[in-house]
Amino acid sequence: MSKNKNNKSIWHTRVKKEVSSLFQKVGSSIDIDKKLYKEDIKGSIVHVEMLFRQKIISFKIKNKIIYGLNKIEKEIFKNNFIYDKKYEDIHMNIEKRLFEIIGEEAGYVHTARSRNDQIITDFKMWITSATKEINKSLNDLIKTIIKISEKNIQTIMPGFTHLKNAQAISFAHYLMAYIEMFNRDKKRFSNNLENLSENPLGVAALTGTSFNIDRNFTTKKLGFKKPTNNSIDTVADRDFVLDFLYSVSVCSMHISRISEELIIWNSDGFNLINLSDKIVTGSSIMPQKKNPDLLEFLRGKTSSSYGNLFSMLTILKGLPISYFKDLQDDKEIVFKSNETLINCIAILNEVLKNISPNKQKMLELANSGYITATDLADYLVKNHSMPFRKAYKITSSVVNYAEKNKKKLNELNIDELKKIEPKLTVEVLKVFDLKNSVNSKKSYGGTSFDNIKKMIMKYKKN
Ligand code: ARG
Repeated sequence: MSKNKNNKSIWHTRVKKEVSSLFQKVGSSIDIDKKLYKEDIKGSIVHVEMLFRQKIISFKIKNKIIYGLNKIEKEIFKNNFIYDKKYEDIHMNIEKRLFEIIGEEAGYVHTARSRNDQIITDFKMWITSATKEINKSLNDLIKTIIKISEKNIQTIMPGFTHLKNAQAISFAHYLMAYIEMFNRDKKRFSNNLENLSENPLGVAALTGTSFNIDRNFTTKKLGFKKPTNNSIDTVADRDFVLDFLYSVSVCSMHISRISEELIIWNSDGFNLINLSDKIVTGSSIMPQKKNPDLLEFLRGKTSSSYGNLFSMLTILKGLPISYFKDLQDDKEIVFKSNETLINCIAILNEVLKNISPNKQKMLELANSGYITATDLADYLVKNHSMPFRKAYKITSSVVNYAEKNKKKLNELNIDELKKIEPKLTVEVLKVFDLKNSVNSKKSYGGTSFDNIKKMIMKYKKN
């Protein structure tokens, strides 16, 4: 910021000594909160419009201030604005510049407000747009997953529990589990919009103001739904920050889970998916390597989201209500979490476009580990009217027999099976077919092909 004739802080009339350079260095947040310039200027413009409507300032002054603020917005946009750490934050930097542009009348802009309500107004507006942005990129991600799922309805793989073969599933069904997670993330973010829609502007430092302001006017003009109810709570409240950080953390956690699974499936031991060269890196010493670095990056980044959530919770723990400098850190925390999540969603989207299932290997693995055992037990219940526990016991004997004779379940013949359960007929052999197995899970939410097709249609409608 260029020097004005009064190159001093706003409070120099009270705080006589220049702040120590060390404090200026740590106390200033302009490097961080300059991100809020648009919201800050919008808030100020609406604020002075309201002051004029309420006959608190004149038409001329209102217009002058708005002229100055618009000019500042352009300067900042064009990178022609010089920020000065001395003026601490975005509010004071803009106010100082307003003085330079329009003179003493700039002093009216801060009538009936404080930086305490100003910052939360800016911040709530910013988080609202960030939330919408995140939901948009989650939509893109979901679209990608739908596309891959459509191509893989009939791709059969083992479903795992404890990472041991459990029952056969469709690869699409597995992927679509993540659509559910990301849809819940979207909902979680959207749910926060309710608290974000309460307008803090006008509570001033902590008490409200003696000026006859109209908070409903600023509420409407700034796109909020209603003014906040309690001035003290308003300046103290950072619950909306926690909600955002928690939502980011849960979404990152989902990203880390799919990343970890893809890393395992890409490992040489599993070899269930291939990653294209676009998303792997080599090794500086081992020439054969193709490492899933990007997936590891995604898995790792979750830690910083959790860290940020815990930083904010810790800042708020035991903090008396109203405003304290401790709260200033909220911006850095949120900006970092937001940026990381936006990057991670985009990276996951790119990664998913660059994976391909190793269908052969998936089928092979699904054919091992007696994966159709539960199908046999179900079959016995349905066709030979016996309680599930009895069917379970007979099936265990079949599995034990197969294991002892080093055979897969689909390699057993009817005579061998009859020795264990004489009631069985050749019809039973179809339960060992993986396709039949997957397709038989027709209960709502199950992995049958029909279910998956219907669910894809449902997702597409959303
Ligand atoms: N830059 C401050 C923050 O981000 C704005 C509020 C300052 N209020 C105060 N009383 N120091 O928290």
